[in-house]
Amino acid sequence: MGNLTKKSNTFITKEDRYGAHNYHPLPVVLEKGEGVYVWDVEGKRYFDFLSAYSAVNQGHCHPRIINALKQQADKLTLTSRAFYSDKLGDFEEFICELFGYDKALIMNSGVEAVETAMKLCRKWAYQVKGIASSQAKIVFANGNFHGRTISVISASNDESARNDFGPFLPGIAHVPYNDVAAFESLLKADKNIAGFIVEPIQGEAGVVVPDDDYIPRIKALCKEYNVLLIADEIQTGIARTGSMLASYDINSKDRANQPDILILGKAISGGVLPVSAVLASDQIMLTIKPGEHGSTYGGNPLACAVAKEGLQVVIDEKLAENAFRLGELFRAGLKNIAQRTNIIRLVRGKGLLNAIVINSDENSDLAWEICMKFKEYGLLAKPTHGNKIRLAPPLIITEEQIMESLAIIEKTLLDLTVEYETINQTDKK
Ligand SMILES: Cc1ncc(COP(=O)(O)O)c(C=O)c1O
Repeated sequence: MGNLTKKSNTFITKEDRYGAHNYHPLPVVLEKGEGVYVWDVEGKRYFDFLSAYSAVNQGHCHPRIINALKQQADKLTLTSRAFYSDKLGDFEEFICELFGYDKALIMNSGVEAVETAMKLCRKWAYQVKGIASSQAKIVFANGNFHGRTISVISASNDESARNDFGPFLPGIAHVPYNDVAAFESLLKADKNIAGFIVEPIQGEAGVVVPDDDYIPRIKALCKEYNVLLIADEIQTGIARTGSMLASYDINSKDRANQPDILILGKAISGGVLPVSAVLASDQIMLTIKPGEHGSTYGGNPLACAVAKEGLQVVIDEKLAENAFRLGELFRAGLKNIAQRTNIIRLVRGKGLLNAIVINSDENSDLAWEICMKFKEYGLLAKPTHGNKIRLAPPLIITEEQIMESLAIIEKTLLDLTVEYETINQTDKK
């Protein structure tokens, strides 16, 4: 914490003293955000290249979304689902028509939506597919990240997420990610498979992009074996990867790849409120009856007003197109930098969901040091899984700002390359 000011230190010390130690934040204390920028308590401005883990796709404090929040906050914020509201049906209609589903179930956090999808999948397994009671299994991919509740970490194989949190939920099977043959073998061997919950790109794992035909082939197998394809697009969705969704084209009539259940969260509300959604057909959604699932805040009028505007902004501002175009430019810039330093092992990503894999093992501090240096030069990013740094700015970023950010990344990496080469030379002496 050496060169932090007294002001920053006061806030950090307080969080450290009174808050649970369930995160390891970069030592920067933010107090303001606008568009692609955030400011710390000393007034220093940064490019935000995390976007709150891809929740702030529309940019910080987007005026239209904040206006929707203010208007609705003055009128009605929460009814609970004991009563109807004049906002819920409106939002449900909007989101169903946008993504092409019969029904939506609105929740709050992303992980709640994943839980909801797991419950729906089990209900469907017993009531529609006809699996014997309590025998249903849901498949997950190795390296997945779907959130932090007990049932969801039951499906994780990241030991730091699971250690000392057992016992875990039964009824879970695993397959390697991006391995169609392994999934098919599992389907052949086990008649109790009800669904496959999968990220179209594994974000937390360090932006692992599967083959282009992975989702289509998985979907075809799901259809053949009467298994639900459940896409977790909480991180990849809402224009992040250069199209509204990463799993299928919402503008195409060909819906062959469309997942049976779609899970959305994060950016549907532009980083303003926690809002998540599960979308499915009538046949799947209507297996859950009144009293069998819900949440006090789920589908509240404030969330509905904000999320509807959040999605409309993504459409009106053509953020998918921007993410696609600037993503290509950004990766080309990163690849160019990678040729001039041995610190970057790999550049990967799609649209504006990208990562650099650092040339060190997962336990090394190098990625952290790089992020500290980015911070010094005015850009915020955070390592994931030790040696990967995700680079995911708000999708409203301009070409000029991408070039400025690349200059910061280049300066940081070339500075550190010199430092590391000097250290290596000294070590050899
Ligand atoms: C793919 C995916 N699923 C689920 C979640 C959990 O969302 P939340 O943190 O809102 O519970 C995340 C969060 O990073 C995610 O990336």
